Amino acid sequence: MTPTILAIESSCDETSAAVIRSGCILSNVVANQDVHLRYGGVVPELASRAHQQHIVPVVAQALQEAGVAKAELQAVAFTRGPGLLGSLLVGASFAKALGLGLGLPLIEVQHMMAHVLAHFIDEPRPNFPFLCLTVSGGHTQIVLVRSHLDMEIIGQTQDDAVGEAFDKTAKLLGLPYPGGPLIDQYAQQGNPTAFAFPEVSTPGLDFSFSGLKTAFLYFVQEQVKKSPNFVQENLADICASIQYTLVKVLLNKLRRAAREQQIREIAIAGGVSANSGLRAALHQMAEREGWQVYVPAFQYCTDNAAMIAMAAHYKFLAGQFTSQEVSPLPRMAF
Ligand code: KG4
Ligand code: ZN
Repeated sequence: MTPTILAIESSCDETSAAVIRSGCILSNVVANQDVHLRYGGVVPELASRAHQQHIVPVVAQALQEAGVAKAELQAVAFTRGPGLLGSLLVGASFAKALGLGLGLPLIEVQHMMAHVLAHFIDEPRPNFPFLCLTVSGGHTQIVLVRSHLDMEIIGQTQDDAVGEAFDKTAKLLGLPYPGGPLIDQYAQQGNPTAFAFPEVSTPGLDFSFSGLKTAFLYFVQEQVKKSPNFVQENLADICASIQYTLVKVLLNKLRRAAREQQIREIAIAGGVSANSGLRAALHQMAEREGWQVYVPAFQYCTDNAAMIAMAAHYKFLAGQFTSQEVSPLPRMAF
């Protein structure tokens, strides 16, 4: 069987559609939403309205770029969760309507599993079992991946996600949303050990980032009291130091997980896996620990429908289809 599938992603603030045939991505169109920029974060109601505006042209463009007619499709896939309810509803409703109209089966995809499966879009692909550090705006997880569709979360954040920690510290520095990529950019000119921030100790393989965020807030307030231009004068050093701390917390837990599980196939996924500091530190740790590391191409790190299509491909082969009755699940588990 060589399925041709249209996949739709709309869990947060990117509207995306992709076409996959026989496991090869033929197109991957992503429409970003600038409407949130001036609010310093994603506004759910504005996100769902923007998805409604984008979904028809994005799907049309994905089919056109793939050179695939609707009649050639064998399934329609969509992100069922986790994500923002109003955003998920647009993608799910569109997929259901298209499936109904074309008489095609539906495939639901769990967004975080799809981030992990982004590793199967291009070579080199990780060998099973592998560990995947999945780091995004909403999640921070260490996932034990036994096969394409068999995954277990063995560590996760108890409060904020690491992407949220990046974005919230960026906001405190007066940087626009999403601040993660900007912190990354400024950090490249800064000294990572210029300022020290406390690391919260957490049990086992779990993470906690809310304490660090608060410590950072007090640090900035105190410094600004002493010197009003502190942030502007030290931006690169502040960004490098906060990034260094966040990356250190992530990699220390990942190393612990790898040693406990005796696994040396290590992957990273999700929006924060685009971070250059994380990538560099991961490669250094890989050398010391004897790991084989896998990092997705930039366009497959942040939200995209190609990863949803990849997950749908494996679900199609496993015969895992979804009924027309399903509703989106904002807190969908694996
Ligand atoms: O996976 P993603 O696109 O959406 C979610 O599912 O959340 O991740 C978005 C997150 C945001 O917090 C963004 O700031 C962060 O990924 N991010 C980065 C970088 N690129 C994106 N954080 C740090 N450095 C980057 N280069
Ligand atoms: Zn995501």
